[in-house]
Amino acid sequence: MVETVISIRTARLGDEVDIASVHDAAWREAYRGVIPGRELERMIARRGPSWWRLAIARRTPLLVLEFSGSVVGYVSYGRNRVPALGYGGEIFELYLAPECQGCGFGRRMFEAARKDLAGHGYGSIVVWALAENERAIRFYRQLGGRIVRRAHETFGGQDRERVAFGFG
Ligand SMILES: CC(C)(COP(=O)(O)OP(=O)(O)OC[C@H]1O[C@@H](n2cnc3c(N)ncnc32)[C@H](O)[C@@H]1OP(=O)(O)O)[C@@H](O)C(=O)NCCC(=O)NCCS
Repeated sequence: MVETVISIRTARLGDEVDIASVHDAAWREAYRGVIPGRELERMIARRGPSWWRLAIARRTPLLVLEFSGSVVGYVSYGRNRVPALGYGGEIFELYLAPECQGCGFGRRMFEAARKDLAGHGYGSIVVWALAENERAIRFYRQLGGRIVRRAHETFGGQDRERVAFGFG
């Protein structure tokens, strides 16, 4: 019998190569055609293993999802960066390797991050997504989020809309 084990745990030193590779694959797949190509390549290049190693060493709240012994997703979170929104916590990034999407892992990582934030006194949270990232928009709606703010950001000279989902 083949046993598959899923676990969500705090990232540790040694995970940086796997997280960088999930980041690379997920960003390419999610943002190709949304963020201009050269800017996307720059954004991915900045987030290599050394960037992630530093994030882990600094104890940035960062969880990874392990599936059959491999890191296939990560979620980073902390205090909400836009206090005027009135939400305590924020999920900064939630990404899964493309081949592991649509299996319930995103929901599990979201809930794990939300639980940790709640344990630190952040009962309400916000998450930003690009408006063109339809999969993320549907995902956050399905999880019960409602759009509480719209904003714009420039990528490689091109304007893109971002939306904030509030929870709780
Ligand atoms: C967005 C993302 C994190 C979602 O994770 P996932 O594992 O694919 O989603 P799940 O399988 O956990 O789905 C959770 C719920 O959302 C729903 N959902 C997920 N994707 C959906 C879609 N494209 N359309 C409609 N519903 C969707 C599922 O049906 C499920 O509902 P249920 O639990 O009530 O049955 C993942 O697809 C991903 O990493 N995408 C690329 C990167 C990205 O866009 N990240 C977010 C940036 S803000």
